[in-house]
Amino acid sequence: MFTAISNYVKNQKPGPNFSLLEVGTWMGSSMLTWAEAMVKHNQSDGSITCVNPMEPYFDAAEQSSAINYENPDHAAVAEEMLHEMTALLEGDFVYDIWNHNRRLIPDTIPVTLLREASVTVLPKLRDESFHVVYVDGSHFYDDVLADLREAKRIVKPGGIVCGDDLELKPHQCDLEFAKAHKHLDFPTDPKTGHPFHPGVTLAVGEMFDDVSLYDGFWMAQKTPDGFQPYYLDHYQKHTPAHFQGNVKAYYENYTSRYFKNDPSQPINASQKPMTNV
Ligand SMILES: C[S@@+](CC[C@H](N)C(=O)[O-])C[C@H]1O[C@@H](n2cnc3c(N)ncnc32)[C@H](O)[C@@H]1O
Repeated sequence: MFTAISNYVKNQKPGPNFSLLEVGTWMGSSMLTWAEAMVKHNQSDGSITCVNPMEPYFDAAEQSSAINYENPDHAAVAEEMLHEMTALLEGDFVYDIWNHNRRLIPDTIPVTLLREASVTVLPKLRDESFHVVYVDGSHFYDDVLADLREAKRIVKPGGIVCGDDLELKPHQCDLEFAKAHKHLDFPTDPKTGHPFHPGVTLAVGEMFDDVSLYDGFWMAQKTPDGFQPYYLDHYQKHTPAHFQGNVKAYYENYTSRYFKNDPSQPINASQKPMTNV
């Protein structure tokens, strides 16, 4: 997702007054990546509006019970992470870190936080008011569907709706399993053996005929003929500057595997010849 964000801004060169809406901002890592891309590829121009209630949004025990990894160590780490995420949201820890991170963004890029759930805040936003709506909030089906419906309304003509955590498109997974587990965050698909977000798979499949997909990051552009997949004409590995130490090493190792054949071509991005849209 971090590489895709950078490549999108580099590809699109959005120009003056670029406006981004980020639904689901957590501690601000994707926000920093969007800001870095604006600095590097858009002359430090842009604005970022984040939507996040900064409150617990899932039952960690219920979600933990759905973890079904072959490796028990991985399962234990995932379970611990779910409990830790809830604990961090219960205090203001996540908000405090987000606030710290927003101060790292240059003043030329104003950042706003709308501290409410997307279901209450998105309907208040004007039609066609953002160039990009990045949907990365709750991954439960009903929430994603509502977010995408609003995102399609809020995005400007020619703009894109995009999101993260689309590991499998509907035709790739066990659809019946996805429908029966759309209330779970990250179960394992029985058809492929991959953990996935059934809510994201189903809602994206329902709201768009097709989307482009770069390592879980998906995009669709609002065109006069409806929403169409937005393909990048280049895709170069990028590590955000705020990734340091172990995080940087982990990300670079992960992306090296991902870009294993061709450094400018991720292994799952070649659905279509890359053309400039
Ligand atoms: C996957 S994380 C976002 C990660 C972030 N975009 C990043 O890459 O750094 C999901 C975020 O969505 C937020 N969230 C959950 N339910 C939400 C809702 N109804 N409206 C807005 N945000 C929500 C959570 O608090 C969490 O911060």
